[in-house]
Amino acid sequence: MSEPSFSEALRNATWSAHESAEGEGYLKALMAGRLSAEAYGEMVAQHYFAYVALDGVSRALAGDPVAGPFVFPELYREEALVRDLETIYGSGWRSRIEPSGPTEELVARIERTVSWPGGYVAHHYTRYMGDLSGGQFIRMELEKIYGYRKDGGVDFYRFDAVGSLPRFKNDYRSRLDALPVDEAEKARIIEETRVAYRLNTEVLTDLGRLVRAEPVA
Ligand code: HEM
Repeated sequence: MSEPSFSEALRNATWSAHESAEGEGYLKALMAGRLSAEAYGEMVAQHYFAYVALDGVSRALAGDPVAGPFVFPELYREEALVRDLETIYGSGWRSRIEPSGPTEELVARIERTVSWPGGYVAHHYTRYMGDLSGGQFIRMELEKIYGYRKDGGVDFYRFDAVGSLPRFKNDYRSRLDALPVDEAEKARIIEETRVAYRLNTEVLTDLGRLVRAEPVA
């Protein structure tokens, strides 16, 4: 059998971490329609802080040979997240939200990758490939549950400017396969992707407090 490509190796090495992220109680309750729009908004708020950090590093590393191929302005999420937060909480959204402890840890970790392009790729992959994959399923469920349409509510999960998502994801995997780094750096990127999954899962675990606070229908 031929050696797996880097994109395959990365996916294989992190798929069990994916399963625990996916199985988080908060996401399960959200997908079951058991949370209020405000409790959904708490996740949107945490995304807001993480993507301001991630997209900030993207801008800083746009010219870098390792990170640059992953910088796509059409993926930037801040504007979509602001529309979603306005829809959920109204114009006073900014004073309603704050980063949780796990989000602060994730943001600090993302910000550090401004001096480590390989680490940036790990965080970018973990978030955006997820948003472009399972995120599309999450969006469809949220549309059904809360009745959101275009222009606010679930715009975070809309990537209209990207075009065909399967084509984009294939191209993304080719870019992972073409990373100009040696085997040791590839191993470090896989390790950082595990860390990224862990930190993102901790953000969701912390949001689990909202599940307990919500009445079960
Ligand atoms: C209800 C929750 C979720 C569902 C149903 C889900 C589902 C999926 C599915 C079906 C794929 C495969 C798509 C494909 O092969 O093209 C996928 C890929 C992915 N997901 Fe999720 N996911 C969820 C949550 C998450 C979370 C919380 C994260 C990370 C924070 C995440 C990160 C990823 C990544 C990075 C990939 C790309 C894997 C690869 O092909 O290399 N997902 N997800």
